[in-house]
Amino acid sequence: MVYKTAAIIGLQWGDEGKGKIIDYLAGRADVVVRAQGGNNAGHTVVSGGRKYALHLIPSGVLHPGAVNVIGNGVVVDPAGFFNEIETLEADGIDCSRIFISDRAHIVFPWHRELDALIEESAGSGGIGTTRRGIGPCYTDKAARTGLRACDMLNTRSFINKLTERLDASNEVIGKIYGAKPLDREKITDEYAGYAERMGPMIADTGVIVYDAVSEGKAVLFEGAQGAMLDLDLGTYPYVTSSHPGSGGFIIGAGVGPRMIDGIVGVVKAYTTRVGAGPMVTELTDETGDAIREAGNEYGTTTGRPRRCGWFDGVAVRHSVRTNGVDGIALTLLDVLGGFDEIKLCYAYETPDGERIENFPALLDTLAACKPLYRTARGWQTDISGCTSFDELPEEARAYIAEIEDISGAPVKIVSVGPGREQTIIREEIL
Ligand code: GDP
Ligand code: IMO
Ligand code: MG
Repeated sequence: MVYKTAAIIGLQWGDEGKGKIIDYLAGRADVVVRAQGGNNAGHTVVSGGRKYALHLIPSGVLHPGAVNVIGNGVVVDPAGFFNEIETLEADGIDCSRIFISDRAHIVFPWHRELDALIEESAGSGGIGTTRRGIGPCYTDKAARTGLRACDMLNTRSFINKLTERLDASNEVIGKIYGAKPLDREKITDEYAGYAERMGPMIADTGVIVYDAVSEGKAVLFEGAQGAMLDLDLGTYPYVTSSHPGSGGFIIGAGVGPRMIDGIVGVVKAYTTRVGAGPMVTELTDETGDAIREAGNEYGTTTGRPRRCGWFDGVAVRHSVRTNGVDGIALTLLDVLGGFDEIKLCYAYETPDGERIENFPALLDTLAACKPLYRTARGWQTDISGCTSFDELPEEARAYIAEIEDISGAPVKIVSVGPGREQTIIREEIL
């Protein structure tokens, strides 16, 4: 089905290839909207033989026609934001069509510092965050002590509010963690500069998105992270502090639920995860290493090696159900080209032999679960040049059918390589 507006979300633990799929669709979009997370995201897009890493800026920026919106649900680190703009502009990308919501919360150096201090003090019990200050910034938002982009529009009162928050945060940094307090003058100067630069981009972006949808324009909602990292529906507490699922767009872009026509879940043909937390299908052996090397599974944001394993159908089925997914974009299928056999987890088994088909809430239960697998035949050929579904080997088509069967959603797009042209469309989306 061709949608006028569509949300593209990750259904696993992030890094599903959302950037590649969004970039493919963004050529037809009038507006591309990010609605949650911050520069903890790392979306790699390969276009015209060049590789771009996007963190805060919507992937629509690579297409000259699209307006790019950073919605109110995003947390914006101005340092990361301007770094990204400078890198993109140095590559000749026009960054003049970017708007930041006046209601978006701002990440400050104390958020990054606290993120690192909390992780370090937790030792091996840490979450393995990206240390971009995301958790502490959303903590301030929920505690109603955060500062928003609209605060930046009045420099004098912004600096007063900033100083108040800095002093309060320095108390925590010094007294609880015994670390060196942050420098007031340096931070106020830096942020006064950001306020001036960001000012012209700050707008009520909810109105921009609402008007675009009302006028029948094509709007793409760009997810970051993945549904299994959702604060409510993911593997809590090993999650991020926002709502990467479809529900996150309603609050985070500031639009009503009926403004999103279609929900497309991006699913990697196997499973990866960065950071800590149970992962039932993880392979810590040479098969896991082989997937990591074939898929070049190293983080776009932190460079960390990603944990790899077989397709976890219990997790994907949970995400399909909790996000109302209409169809799947299956990515990195080419990576599985070297295996004789490929496994797909369809259920979990507890130590007392109980079979679990729905994703458990309690992580102790999850950590004790063993995967129950179906085995599919590998195709052992390079499929990265295939341009139609029928051209895929029979075994690859059978593997896709297994994924549809286990997850309960149809596979509408198949990605066989990082490039725009390495995309097989079974059903048009936008
Ligand atoms: P995102 O965070 O969901 O946008 O995903 P990342 O960009 O962090 O990681 C996905 C990686 O896989 C990137 O390096 C992409 O260029 C790459 N990629 C995306 N789709 C495919 C595919 O179908 N095949 C291969 N081999 N690589 C892909
Ligand atoms: P994209 O958009 C994969 C993970 C971190 C950590 C947890 C919490 O590229 O898919 P945070 O810094 O958000 O407080 O870290 O979430 N994480 C991601 N993992 N892809 C991402 O983004 C991620 N963003 C956060 O590794 O486990
Ligand atoms: Mg990523």
